[in-house]
Formats: sequence, structure tokens, C-alpha cells
Amino acid sequence: MAMLSLALAAASVAASSATNAQIAAKQIAVPPPPMGWSSWNSFSNTIDSQITLEQANAMVKTGLQKAGYRYINIDEGWWLGQRDAEGNIVVDPKAWPALAPGEKAGDMANIVRAIHALGLQAGIYTDAGRDGCGTFSPDLGPGYPGEGSEGHYDQDFLQFAKWGFDYVKVDWCGGNNEKLDPAIQYAEIARAIANAESITGHRLYYSICNWGVNSPWTWAPNIGGVAADIWRTSGDIVAPIVANSKNSSRAASFKGVLSNFDQGIHPEAQHTGFYNDPDMMVLGMQGLTDAQNRVHMSLWAISGAPLLIGADLTELTGATLAMLTNPDVIAVDQDSLGLQAVKVAEFAKGLEVWAKPLAKPGARAVVLLNRTDSAASISADWSSFGLLASSSATVKDVWSGKDLGSFNSSYSTSVPPRDAVMLLVDGREGDYKTYKIERLEITQVAKSSRAGDADGSGNPADRSGKQPATGVPVLKDHQLSFNHVGSRMRVARVEIAYTNPGPTTRFAELRVNGQIATRIAFPPTGSTIGAVWIQSVLDGVGANNVLSFSAICDPGPVIDSISVE
Ligand code: GLA
Repeated sequence: MAMLSLALAAASVAASSATNAQIAAKQIAVPPPPMGWSSWNSFSNTIDSQITLEQANAMVKTGLQKAGYRYINIDEGWWLGQRDAEGNIVVDPKAWPALAPGEKAGDMANIVRAIHALGLQAGIYTDAGRDGCGTFSPDLGPGYPGEGSEGHYDQDFLQFAKWGFDYVKVDWCGGNNEKLDPAIQYAEIARAIANAESITGHRLYYSICNWGVNSPWTWAPNIGGVAADIWRTSGDIVAPIVANSKNSSRAASFKGVLSNFDQGIHPEAQHTGFYNDPDMMVLGMQGLTDAQNRVHMSLWAISGAPLLIGADLTELTGATLAMLTNPDVIAVDQDSLGLQAVKVAEFAKGLEVWAKPLAKPGARAVVLLNRTDSAASISADWSSFGLLASSSATVKDVWSGKDLGSFNSSYSTSVPPRDAVMLLVDGREGDYKTYKIERLEITQVAKSSRAGDADGSGNPADRSGKQPATGVPVLKDHQLSFNHVGSRMRVARVEIAYTNPGPTTRFAELRVNGQIATRIAFPPTGSTIGAVWIQSVLDGVGANNVLSFSAICDPGPVIDSISVE
């Protein structure tokens, strides 16, 4: 069907004065990035039931669970590629024994039950191709073919859900070797996950691991209809460092940490529960100093990255543990706005300011990053991250916990070489411009929406034959455009005010200036207007940006207005 572009002209209503209260719609919290532990960095393919249990127990004992960490993710090495005559995965019964009376050895449900009994959640791992990474580049031990799920997607993901796993990471070594298209394979897998979820009623969180091949930030958000997911944006920070093995002398590098951080920044794709994943953390592993660990944690938190610990949880030092559990830092990472940091200033090569918008109006997490070899003063300027320069803001040093006081327009401090300072800045929002749909055009769209909306559930008002109280439903094959949108920021925050009266999350695509679309989740709001936030690159000259919404399937959300910084 030809795209019927309704191209609604939007009446722009400039904000009259700049106050935080102007951003009035109720913010809808979005799913945060996952927090947990993964076996790969410290155990490679030696992972088994005993190690998994020790790590799960340590997550509880160390207080990591209390701080919010909950996934125990079993990575590659748990399965060596064998299947039975029906194609079911067969695991080594010695590596995965019975753990309680009545259990059978070789049943992965045993370890899942033990993890759940601690109040934690369990993750598992496979490959999108026929073979896995262990076939092509075994880390410890021999290579083993067939350790991937291609040809068994429905069967394997149903098995993972039946075993009770809560999280699945899907690697790309086999898919890469076969030159498959990741956007297609990972969508097929998303469908297999949805199928497994509908059969078992058990949710599997989706972690895509194809190291940035074919730019997953352009296709991974909401792939195959998933409500929330993460995708890797780069290769591994370090190859596994396994104690008492031939690779025990490997070391993580600070350079690797910075490089993965940089490759993980795609703020236009990170919103409403979809996250860039710069890799499991190497914090607390061999090779990094305490100061470097602190920078690492600051960068992951300000990225809103998944916080997946790669270190051996039974060997964490007090200093590492304190960093991993710092409540202010975790709150920055898990903030319910779900956005990523943007580089807002680079005063000289290597002297950078990164800012992450937080749910509290006027609040920003800020990292002053010095990549150079000498100490330097770096300044956080309110206006560079959208706060009113004319208003004072309070500043807190996150790692020392000290309130530094109240400052006008900016805060500068000296940052040691190859180090960072992390701040919480609490000021006043700058101007927002609200773009509303005009009344007349609502009628137009409401009419055509009734024709195209099979069950009439696009909006409660549709059913009674009345005009929608406010907003325009986004429907399939229709495009709802806000034209002439301007912003003083290159990467602008955009608040989307909408209603979703239905019981489940709805989705819509947004195209900015006719570029590739990003899929946005719109959780239920009931009958009142709610808001989600995204960040968009508004590079059209002047107020010449066009933001076009279209639905992926009917009904989409009912869009009321957008407000742009
Ligand atoms: C890839 C992934 C890692 C890990 C290994 C297992 O390298 O990027 O995170 O899962 O495979 O072999």
C-alpha cells in the first residue's frame, strides 16, 4: 500500500518562559539497562555448575544483589555442541549435575532453580549461526563445532525458556563466518523468543552480541517486536583472564575501556528500554588501577550501559566493591529516562565533557574526561547541556559524595591525567519549544484512522465516535510529521507526549529528516497523557527539521505533542 502521508503541519507554540515545570506531562519510566555478572571474562569456557553457584552466592554475600545486580549469565562453554536424535541440546552431566533431590544430572533447569532460589535471575548463551565462537577461536581447550542455534531457533529458545532462563545472549561468530545478515538473523531469533515466551509464559531478555557488525543501533531497537533489548557495539575489551590457566597473565587495558566506551555512543538509538552495550565490564580485573576502575564505572554509568560485571565475584577488593555498589553512580546508569550521555564539549583534544540527562528536570550527570597525559582544568557549562546559564545550579562530586556548592553558569575543576571527575548538576532547564497537532487535522486523521483500524482500539474516543480528546493516533501506512522543528542543540532532547490507553506497550517508528528510522516504545499511560524522551540529531539548518512518526502495527500510540530543547 502506498504510504499515505498526512504530513500534518504542526503549530509551534514557543515556550514563553523557561521553567522546569513546563515539562509537565507525566514521565513514563522505561525499562533500565540490565545489571548482573557474566562468566566469560574470568572463566572463559571452563564455566560449570560449581563456578556458577559460587558466583551467585558471592553476588548475594557481597551486597551486589542489594545494590541492584541480579543476572547470573552463563556465557560460552556451557555446551559443547552435542544434540540428541531430536535435535535437543545435550550437556555434560558432570559439569551440570543434580543439585537437589529428585533432579537429573545434565538438566540446565537445576542451575536455574538454584539461582532463582537466591532471588537472582539466570542468563544463557548461544550463537546465531550453526557454529559458535568456540569452533573458530577456542580460548581454553579444543574447538568444538555445532555450538550455535541456526536451524534450531524455535527449539533452542523454547528450551531456554522451559529451563527457566530469564536472559539470553546471542553471539555472532557462526553467523559472521557464514556471512549471514545480522538484522535478518536477529529478527528471526526475536520471533523465536516471542514464540517461546508465548508457549511458556516465561520472559527471556534479549542480548544481541554481534560487536557492531552492520551498525545494530540502526536495526536492533525493538527488533522483531521485542519490548526491550541490548546490542553490543564493539569487540571484547579483553580476552578472558582465567586464574591458573595458560592465559592467566593477560591484562585488561584502559585504552580498551576508552575505545569500547567511544564505540558505544549512539544516543539516537538509546531510548525507551533499548540500550547500546559496550561489553561486560573489566572493572576489578587484572590490568586496571583503582583510578582507572573508577573512570570505567563512571563511563559505563553515564552511557546508561548494561552493568555486567566480568570479574570473579569471590575475589573483589573492598575498593572495587565500593565502586560497583555506589548508589549515586548506579542511579545515573539506571535512571528512568533511559537516555545516553552526549559529548557536549571538547575544549582541546582529549579534554571532554559528557552529559547524561536524568529524569529529574534540570538534573544532569556530567563526566569531565581528561584523556591526555597532563592534568588540565575542564569546565562544565550549563548551556552546553541544556540548562539555563543564567540560573545557578548545585554540583555534587559523585565519587567523593561531597556537595560542592552552588555555581553560576559553569563549574570548572582540575582533572588529573587519564582520569575523570563525575558530577551531578542540578539546575534549571533551558527553553523547550512545544509542537502541537492542530485541532482540524486531528479530525482528518481520526476519520482515516477509523477506516484503517480494524478493531477501532486506536483511541478510546474512536469507539464512541467522538474526536480524540487530544492527540493523533499513529497508524500503519500513515505518517504523522512535525515540520519546521528547530533546536539550539545538535543532539536535542525530545519529549514525546502521548497516550497509550491499551494494556501493553505500543511502538512507532520515528524518522528524522528522512533518515533511517528508530523504533520507540510507548508504554501504557491509561487515559492520561504521559511522556517518553528520546535524543535526536537535528542537523537541518535552522528550524527545518522534520520528525515523522509511523506505526509498525496498529494501533500505535496517540501522539499529543513533542517538546524540543
Ligand atoms: C565473543 C563475545 C564475548 C564472549 C565470547 C565467547 O567474543 O563478544 O562476549 O561471549 O564470544 O566466545
